[in-house]
Amino acid sequence: MRQESDILVDNFGRTVNYVRISVTDRCDFRCVYCMDEEMQFVPRAKLLSLEEIAIIAEAFTELGVGKIRITGGEPLIRRNIAKLFRDIGELDGLEELLLTTNGSQLPKLAGELKDAGVKRINISLDSLDPDKFRRLTRVGELGKVLAGIDAAEAAGFEKIKINSVILKNRNDDEILDLVGFASARGMDISFIEEMPLGVIGDHDREEAYYSSDEIRADLEQRYSLLPTTESTGGPSRYYRIVETGTRVGFISPHSHNFCDSCNRVRLTCEGRLLLCLGQEHSVDLRQVIRTHPGDKDKLKQALRASMDIKPKGHDFDLSVKPVIFRHMNMTGG
Ligand code: GTP
Ligand code: 5AD
Ligand code: SF4
Repeated sequence: MRQESDILVDNFGRTVNYVRISVTDRCDFRCVYCMDEEMQFVPRAKLLSLEEIAIIAEAFTELGVGKIRITGGEPLIRRNIAKLFRDIGELDGLEELLLTTNGSQLPKLAGELKDAGVKRINISLDSLDPDKFRRLTRVGELGKVLAGIDAAEAAGFEKIKINSVILKNRNDDEILDLVGFASARGMDISFIEEMPLGVIGDHDREEAYYSSDEIRADLEQRYSLLPTTESTGGPSRYYRIVETGTRVGFISPHSHNFCDSCNRVRLTCEGRLLLCLGQEHSVDLRQVIRTHPGDKDKLKQALRASMDIKPKGHDFDLSVKPVIFRHMNMTGG
């Protein structure tokens, strides 16, 4: 039995009850803000196995973590991934099993994921124009993602949210259309400010920066936005769109820092527990689990100890070269 006091609290008094698990750094897309065109991926032997991930997830839930989000790279391209969802979905104490995906594999997997207990899913969609979609993802096919969104709707998840990263002069002219697309389907949408993770040769992040405030101003030309205090436990600040009844969220690491209320940590596909997306403080859980196979108490000890090094926050600055060399595909956001 878990003691009430056996929860994860860091040195700034923040309780960690949300873990984001990246199950692979690979992806069938190459979004220009996420990956370089040529990427070196983690060799398979260095990846956590699905069994290792499941036991780490169990250790977290025994320490009060109620929310687990599976992410990537593209999580759904990992072989046998549905089994991991089923195993995590059965853990005592888990309140929400969630997924962030690019949507391309949903036609194949949506039904199995729903059956495994996945409640809400977030699907990335940055453009509704097939050519522009291809340029932003370098290789992605819009049709596949739209089919994935249809499959997710048909599977009946509690909630599907669209995530869009807006880049100046690349897709800022699609903000209204993206909101129109989401609201016509009764879905919320979040707009994300690009974060400087990893060096990307052919992409200038400072030039591409398009702030949440600019997006809001664009939206207010057509819609009335009412601020709400609703939260899904993530960093989005939500507004209700009066005309559609759906919500629009803004994830604004640059313009509205949300580190004070941070409630999460991340596990990379190599088993590094990252205490902040924008810093390198981490604990090597793969080493713990491979030195003491099957020993959940050793894992829990390491998780408790990790709270001592969770930093106060990130200090992203688009005007300097990235100080974080890890690309977003290591953490899935
Ligand atoms: P819910 O609120 O649970 O629906 O999810 P979410 O919006 O947090 O999750 P999602 O996977 O859709 O992430 C959306 C974006 O938020 C991603 O680009 C993440 O990188 C970003 N994000 C999530 N947590 C953090 C954080 O702690 N710090 C920063 N800087 N960005 C974050
Ligand atoms: N900055 C902000 N968001 C990013 N994503 C990927 N790379 C970046 C970045 N550098 C987004 C994806 C997806 C979410 C998990 O993270 O588009 O919606
Ligand atoms: Fe793949 Fe998501 Fe990165 Fe795009 S943002 S390359 S879909 S992991």
